[in-house]
Amino acid sequence: MRTIVAKISSAEPELEIITSAAEVLRSGGLVAFPTETVYGLGADAYNPGAVAKVFKAKGRPTDNPLIVHIASIEQLYELGKSISSTAERLAREFWPGPLTLVVRRHNIVPDIVTANLETVAVRMPNHAVPLALVKNLQKPIVGPSANLSGRPSPTLAQHVYDDLNGIIEMILDAGPTIIGVESTVVDTTTTPPTILRLGGLTIEQLSEVLGNIHTAKSIEALRRSPGTRHRHYAPQAKVILIPEGNTDEAIHLTNLYTMQGKKVGAIFHSIQRTEFSQNKFFCYLPSDIQTISRQIFNALRTLDSQGVDVILVETVSEKGLGAAVMDRLRRAADKMPLPDPEHTKE
Ligand code: TXA
Ligand code: MG
Repeated sequence: MRTIVAKISSAEPELEIITSAAEVLRSGGLVAFPTETVYGLGADAYNPGAVAKVFKAKGRPTDNPLIVHIASIEQLYELGKSISSTAERLAREFWPGPLTLVVRRHNIVPDIVTANLETVAVRMPNHAVPLALVKNLQKPIVGPSANLSGRPSPTLAQHVYDDLNGIIEMILDAGPTIIGVESTVVDTTTTPPTILRLGGLTIEQLSEVLGNIHTAKSIEALRRSPGTRHRHYAPQAKVILIPEGNTDEAIHLTNLYTMQGKKVGAIFHSIQRTEFSQNKFFCYLPSDIQTISRQIFNALRTLDSQGVDVILVETVSEKGLGAAVMDRLRRAADKMPLPDPEHTKE
């Protein structure tokens, strides 16, 4: 299959491109699209055959349910039922935005979308392209991140192309995504609501509205968010986390692995640059957390494509977006507890 890559404006998506992308979706095909978080892999949410192709293209286990993207609050009620006042408040406060709400589902949602769960994950992205696409199709669109399962999520159309060229019909390229980590997933069927996945909307922002919120740490809660128990975001190279600012540790590990004949890459922001001026695989990010979040997946992918054996990554403080970034880095370094040993990939 030839994958068409179409440039599209994120400010004012060109109507003819939206129309042709919606046509692909209408005929059961797959279209990758930008959002404010990461690129998503879209299919008509009401077409089980098309949704099956999404799982196949990504190599995603069918027990890991998909997020459904909508363009109006009415569509939340079309997909979900018994929606709590808290869910409604969160939707009104944070949509469109990097928040996914898990609600009880109506039967209109195909089983394959929710991996047979009685709930469905819904999100209204803050990006003109998917909003226009959903409106034009007049149906919600499923959208897992548009990467091969287990790989870092795509924040550039090029990342989607690298993973899915020849397997999907179309990629809409609106440039780099703004946030760079995926949406925060909140289960609103519990009281208080439970954060199932940290993401672009911070715990601090959620707490301002809710006061009380749980973070899913227990195995039981992890099971409720099937995706989080699979290994994620992992480059080919071994990822090692280095405490923020620990230049000595960075020097020690660089020397150690270099002496073993390994090609060492690094992603640093505050560790002393002068110490590593010789190393062409050392990537320096600015130290503000927004930029780190926006660039972290690209940095992991870039070093991987340069064939390094080890990637040293400097940690960030777990405030605001930093909590989501650290969650991704721990998973990339395979430091997360994996309650279900049968699933070692997404
Ligand atoms: O920012 C994002 O959320 C991106 C963009 C494209 O919208 N999408 C994304 O989708 O990250 P995906 O499939 O890579 O991650 C969806 C997460 C998974 O961890 C999945 O297990 C969880 O949401 N999820 C989906 N449906 C669920 C449900 N009914 N109950 C609990 N967790 C659910
Ligand atoms: Mg994903």
